Amino acid sequence: MMSYLIAANWKMYKTVGETLEYLEVFLPAVKDLMKIDIMIAPSFTALSSASIKLDAAKKEGEYNVKLGAQNMYYMDKGAFTGEISPIMLTELEVEYVILGHSERRHIFGEKDDLINKKVISAIEHGLRPILCVGETLEEREQGKTLSVVEKQIRNGLAGVEKDMAFIDIAYEPVWAIGTGVNATPEQAQEVHMFIRSLINEMSKGNDEKTRILYGGSVNENNARDLIKEPNIDGFLVGSASLDPNRFYKIITEVMEV
Ligand code: PGA
Repeated sequence: MMSYLIAANWKMYKTVGETLEYLEVFLPAVKDLMKIDIMIAPSFTALSSASIKLDAAKKEGEYNVKLGAQNMYYMDKGAFTGEISPIMLTELEVEYVILGHSERRHIFGEKDDLINKKVISAIEHGLRPILCVGETLEEREQGKTLSVVEKQIRNGLAGVEKDMAFIDIAYEPVWAIGTGVNATPEQAQEVHMFIRSLINEMSKGNDEKTRILYGGSVNENNARDLIKEPNIDGFLVGSASLDPNRFYKIITEVMEV
């Protein structure tokens, strides 16, 4: 199995100053901690400073901390006011990109075909996409959870099934994001097991390197029970990742399992 991936999604919460203050506390805590893959996705404006800080830290010691972006556009360059290209990300040594987050889908109207173009472009540029999928409360109540997730994955990964090894997936039920109500380990496991068999079939068995992360109100108190499930390979954490001590606690909970 691949190492667990514990990823922080800071959304639109931290300035450059706050990002650097966080790393000042967080990096010493995770020095030499190589067993678990850690990813941090600051705001676009803070990526450059975070990248420089991380590089400096890596000259002094071993860190398994990677940078992620929260989104990107699929074109390399052009008249796309306000957008960020994959080339701009790789220039800053960004390695991961979160795509299709439910806030992008629901607030900014992103559809599967746009997300698919972004996934393809990310892979072409050597960025590792974390494709986010998940049902709304209404869809869950109508018994549509698995069919919604299946459609988002099949459409989002159309044409890159053979590249499954370069992709991670995050199952994030919309009703669990930022609400304090996480999916129970059993609820998450049911969907994760379904996703595992789906990507195994789509990739013709080439899915061993694909992590299926759970996201939605993960915190230091529920992380241990969730990670014990056989098909949960890590977390995408929002609120609880904003405090370096809480995020570090989640990482230690995972390490101890
Ligand atoms: P949350 O956010 O941990 O605050 O629920 C998760 C996410 O949106 O990725």
